[in-house]
Amino acid sequence: MSTDWNLIEVAESYEDYEPVRERAFGWPVLFEQAGLARSRTVLDYGAGTGRVAEEILRSHDVSVIAADRSPSMLKVAQRKRQDPRITYQLIGADQRLELPDGEIDAAISTFVFVCIPDTEVVQTIVSEVYRVLRPGATYAMLDVNPDSVGVPFDIGRYGEPGRKYEAGEAIEMRLARPGGESVSLVDYHWPKDVHLGRLRTAGFREVGVVEPTLPAEYDGPGLDRMPVERTSPPYVIYTAVK
Ligand SMILES: C[S@@+](CC[C@H](N)C(=O)[O-])C[C@H]1O[C@@H](n2cnc3c(N)ncnc32)[C@H](O)[C@@H]1O
Repeated sequence: MSTDWNLIEVAESYEDYEPVRERAFGWPVLFEQAGLARSRTVLDYGAGTGRVAEEILRSHDVSVIAADRSPSMLKVAQRKRQDPRITYQLIGADQRLELPDGEIDAAISTFVFVCIPDTEVVQTIVSEVYRVLRPGATYAMLDVNPDSVGVPFDIGRYGEPGRKYEAGEAIEMRLARPGGESVSLVDYHWPKDVHLGRLRTAGFREVGVVEPTLPAEYDGPGLDRMPVERTSPPYVIYTAVK
């Protein structure tokens, strides 16, 4: 069964997961790829509890539109992260944003498409992001690396080792919790070429991927838990220019 992001319990417990890897080598690369240093307005599509929006504001002088389909995720976001520089927006079933065409300087999404089983929904989102970006702006999407099936990361494992998953197939993401427990999320497997095709269909150009690994010089939190991340990229960042 899919993870139901509309449940308040899911929204609350999402915050239990400590984004150590994202902080170390996920978010910084994503922000750079999206060109946030050159931006004033940033869209975070599928912003969840606003964690990434908050992180953006730590290092960038921008305003963020944090949009999501789940009222529960936005409720947690608004309770924990009230900031005049963040505007929260609830997205309806048509996936439309309450934004005019062509005015946003940069857009990001993190761990959103891995939650969506329906290819038409993903295509609609990518096209909607295209609509609101200004010409020349970049959309950068960070997601679980579909080539990391079965890799034994200390922090968790995506899918069963040796199994081949079809496009759109449900796949278990088992995340390790402190104390040896683990928690499972149901994700959906989208090969890289599927997303790249969607970006091109929406009209984006200069479509590509970046697959960061933990830098050799990293000496921050969680270092002892990330030996595999030095050689196997747990994320993929798709980049595309309008
Ligand atoms: C794994 S959470 C990631 C949240 C946030 N981006 C982060 O990295 O902390 C996935 C988010 O995608 C949102 N989501 C799922 N389907 C969506 C859709 N069709 N449109 C917009 N958001 C969606 C969920 O409500 C949830 O907040």
